[in-house]
Amino acid sequence: MLRILVIGTGYVGLVSGACFAEIGHHVTCIDRDNAKIDGLISGSKIPIYEKGLNDLIEDNKKNGRLYFDIDMSKYINESDVVIIAVGTPLDEKGQTNFEYIDHCVSEIIKFAQKDLYVIIKSTVPVGTCDRIQMQFNIKSKFSLEVISNPEFLREGEAVNDFLFPDRVVIGINIQDKKIIRKLYTQLEQNGVEILYTNRVTAELIKYASNSFLAAKVAFINEMADLSEELGGDISSIAYGMGLDKRIGRAFLNAGPGFGGSCFPKDIKALINLSESKDLNLPLLKSIDLSNQNRYHKIVRKIERMLTGGSTIAVLGLTYKAGTDDTRCSPSIRIIQLLSEKGFKIKGHDPQGINKAKQELGNSIRFFDDLYDAAQDADLCLIMTEWNEYKNLDLVRLAGCMKNKKIYDLRQVINKDDFVKSGFKVTVVGYQGE
Ligand code: UDX
Repeated sequence: MLRILVIGTGYVGLVSGACFAEIGHHVTCIDRDNAKIDGLISGSKIPIYEKGLNDLIEDNKKNGRLYFDIDMSKYINESDVVIIAVGTPLDEKGQTNFEYIDHCVSEIIKFAQKDLYVIIKSTVPVGTCDRIQMQFNIKSKFSLEVISNPEFLREGEAVNDFLFPDRVVIGINIQDKKIIRKLYTQLEQNGVEILYTNRVTAELIKYASNSFLAAKVAFINEMADLSEELGGDISSIAYGMGLDKRIGRAFLNAGPGFGGSCFPKDIKALINLSESKDLNLPLLKSIDLSNQNRYHKIVRKIERMLTGGSTIAVLGLTYKAGTDDTRCSPSIRIIQLLSEKGFKIKGHDPQGINKAKQELGNSIRFFDDLYDAAQDADLCLIMTEWNEYKNLDLVRLAGCMKNKKIYDLRQVINKDDFVKSGFKVTVVGYQGE
């Protein structure tokens, strides 16, 4: 059992802290946000929506393996491992904001009075871990060994992805791997492979993996565009491709484009990095461009379905189902474009309304009940694959809409049922009516 200090209680830090406690370690999670920590201590509010996380946190608090606080200085010298899991957002110029990382580094230098392992779990531009190591070597008289341990957690599946990962990637520049063997004992006993590389390689594996997954999504979305023109069946195209083990079926679901706090950011980070090295990587640039252009393509398609000033019920505001996260959400971006063109928008989402309000303000109306959102609408736009949208009450929907048009960007509805109920139906990847 190790004593672990996790700095940052966002999507990565909170899931990692709770899961490290679950696999037997003593974990203290730190965050400077008082309200967030108070909610975690009292059990009144988990700051993110993540399947299974609430129970995991409460169970491990009860068994005395998981604690929360705001002041890291009290715990640094009682810990075996410090894990940095703070945000690394992009600024308006697409450059990484290191503010939170640098604050952690300076606090560790200030308070550390013993040798420590410092694990970087935040997604950081390639070379950051080596830069932090140099800072420690210069500014601390203790051995503070930096280890890169990127996470591969999908939002909505993060607990599962942590406890049952395809692999653990470790960027470590020392021979002694004991600390990592102790940290991931239970996973290794379950047969999970731990891949040891140097720090730069570990950082690159993270970016390369996300960029490749984004490429698969962008690719199938372009195949969907082609399929719509040629009368293809995009679901069978994805299935047929996926039967080839070299391709694999995952990440071939055509949709509105990829969003979230990772894919868009990580691709841009690799593009920026390559440009800083005078390297031209046209494939990465085209993935990003294809995804950005997709939003405009979808809006043009919607314009052709409606007359100006029509009302659109947007079902789904998060960037995908299973999360409350609206960062880089295709839905939010498309709503902004539609609003600029004078359409009236009524938004619904099972989990994402609060975060969508932070992005959209009062530019649209929000509804807790999807049928209220659909009331008097000319078009229903399905943007995320929430279960609520897979079992729509057709009669009720037909009864409350002004015009019966539906555009399903996630292939979640049964097209024939809707056509029989008098709807004009458009589904991504299939020829329109
Ligand atoms: C991703 C990576 O999967 C994860 O390993 C990494 O640690 C963080 O980034 P996440 O952003 O949570 O996880 O979502 P993911 O499920 O990967 O989907 C990313 C985007 O691609 C979403 O907008 C999703 O809707 C879209 N997507 C995904 C598709 O459009 N089609 C697919 O088949 C899969």
